[in-house]
Amino acid sequence: MKERLESIKEAALNKLNSADTLDKLNEIRVEFLGKKGQLTEVLKGMKDVAAEERPKVGAMVNEARETIEAKLDDVKKALESAARNLKLKSEVIDVTLPAKKNTVGHPHPNNVALAELEDIFVGMGYEVVEGPEVEFDYYNFEALNIPANHPAKDEQDTFYITKDILLRTQTSSTQVHEMEKGKLPIRMIAPGRVFRSDEVDATHSPSFHQVEGLVIDKNVTFADLKGTLAVFARKLFGEETKVKFRPHHFPFTEPSAEMDVSCFKCGGKGCRFCKDSGWIEILGCGMVHPHVLEMSHIDPNEYTGFAFGIGLERIAILKYEIDDMRLLYENDARFLNQF
Ligand code: DAH
Repeated sequence: MKERLESIKEAALNKLNSADTLDKLNEIRVEFLGKKGQLTEVLKGMKDVAAEERPKVGAMVNEARETIEAKLDDVKKALESAARNLKLKSEVIDVTLPAKKNTVGHPHPNNVALAELEDIFVGMGYEVVEGPEVEFDYYNFEALNIPANHPAKDEQDTFYITKDILLRTQTSSTQVHEMEKGKLPIRMIAPGRVFRSDEVDATHSPSFHQVEGLVIDKNVTFADLKGTLAVFARKLFGEETKVKFRPHHFPFTEPSAEMDVSCFKCGGKGCRFCKDSGWIEILGCGMVHPHVLEMSHIDPNEYTGFAFGIGLERIAILKYEIDDMRLLYENDARFLNQF
């Protein structure tokens, strides 16, 4: 019996010495100390041992169990501490490594220009409003005095969604929404995205941005239009900027004009930038057509107004001397970070 116990103990200790995982350790525990374990089997055989021998054999079994248990405990502790060390090693942080640079965003030139524009008009008492990009034909064309079959409809190659619903080709549609609200006077600008089925090139894109302006009040005259837009041009391009109004045609304004500013590169002498003319066209404008007022339930005998439409990309391109509009849509951080 004594030999048997010794050999069990030795086998257990040997196995424990080469156990390299907690799972294996558990297997060994079951093999020797489990319900059907080798040591347990010996205990079960105690009934066959002579009564006077039992205390001695019992003490030997206990000694064997305690030795195995103590060894189990040691190996377990060693394995656990090795695992912890491995984990700590793999999680080590090298505090001497240089930190990764956090790349932060940068305002887009369109937004920089828009913020400036909004500042100028808000400073003159204008409200900034927005209109929908998906529009009824009525707001984009009809209510702006562009009825079906009007040639201006062809000029603005329209993306139609249904016969009556389209992607707005101009922010002028926002004028109608504001007038329909019936709250007068109106002094608003409406920035936003517009769509036209144009091919992409250095000066065209199927989606670009406009800033619409509308003022309606009693006794608003063309002189107010000129004065307002001249102030705007000077604030945006510099105090020495001159403005010039050329007659033009828009269906929703009468009279209509385009406004040029003196070239802020050469001061009007003529350069590559202004194509030697000394002037740069920046917006369309005019007095709101009486028919447009009437359609939105404003009495043209009581109220008059002026409107203007600015191409936002055009302002950004001019101000920041960008020579290809496509750069504005590529979101290349190296380009954007320059503004
Ligand atoms: N909607 C015109 C366009 O897209 C621009 C424009 C011209 C707007 C004259 C106006 C205006 O409000 O009065 O070409």
